[in-house]
Amino acid sequence: MTTTFETERYGDRLFAASHRDENERLECLAGTFDPVSAENLLALGLDARWTALDVGAGSGSLSAWLASVAASPDQVTAVDRDTRFLTPLAAEGVRVVEADITDPAFHPGRYDLVHARFVLMHLRDRDEVLRRLASWVKPGGLLVLSDALAAGGETSPHEAYRRTITAYWRMLAETIGSDRHCVAQYPRALTELGLRDIGLHTHLPVVGLHDAFSRFLALTLDQSRGRLLGAGLPEAAYDEAVKHLNDPSAREVFFAMATCWGRTPVLP
Ligand SMILES: C[S@@+](CC[C@H](N)C(=O)[O-])C[C@H]1O[C@@H](n2cnc3c(N)ncnc32)[C@H](O)[C@@H]1O
Repeated sequence: MTTTFETERYGDRLFAASHRDENERLECLAGTFDPVSAENLLALGLDARWTALDVGAGSGSLSAWLASVAASPDQVTAVDRDTRFLTPLAAEGVRVVEADITDPAFHPGRYDLVHARFVLMHLRDRDEVLRRLASWVKPGGLLVLSDALAAGGETSPHEAYRRTITAYWRMLAETIGSDRHCVAQYPRALTELGLRDIGLHTHLPVVGLHDAFSRFLALTLDQSRGRLLGAGLPEAAYDEAVKHLNDPSAREVFFAMATCWGRTPVLP
């Protein structure tokens, strides 16, 4: 008989789209990082002619922004395992596809841009999925991958915050297989896949200085509370961390968004 351990996946139970706060949590994540992603993509040459695949589109806000840049919204395809938050996008002409990107039978076609943000880090089979994402990029097109790079929480001088974030990353790895450092391997992985013009950009928001990110962290810890206490984090430490984060003078970091990109070779 299989157990939950090592079989649970992102969104099955933890961070399920059906959770009452999940749309708000994803919107807070997007509100924190969309401006940075947009700036990166424009600097990489995104223009109105490009076709784009947004993988694990979540709340759909970045897909909507991509569609606003494109000459026509149907140049953008937003794919997710659960597309309930993407219905408004479909009404605006964006192609919305409900699919599991780990399914080897899923072939979405080829695009000028394949973009995946905060998705690969949560997949146990990320190396294989990364290869497949690269295969969906047209020759000369771009693969752009953003993921969290854990920073600050596990070394914070605030004991309760440090214990809570340390327990959080461990719990995430043990339940859904998330890797809080895998993005550091992407420059090498993209090079080994034959991509060129590799680059990396990081952005580190501060909890307490950025409202959307502070709210994202609060909702993330709230959804994780039962798992954290179940894994042995004392309730007093969790409560003290939440109290600390509610203090407007708190200044903590949680993770940086690291964005790695590469261009596929142009065929001779
Ligand atoms: C942390 S959210 C990131 C959302 C969005 N990319 C963003 O950065 O705002 C991860 C998203 O990936 C989706 N996802 C997770 N595993 C997936 C899979 N195997 N196939 C397709 N989508 C997946 C989830 O449903 C969720 O919407």
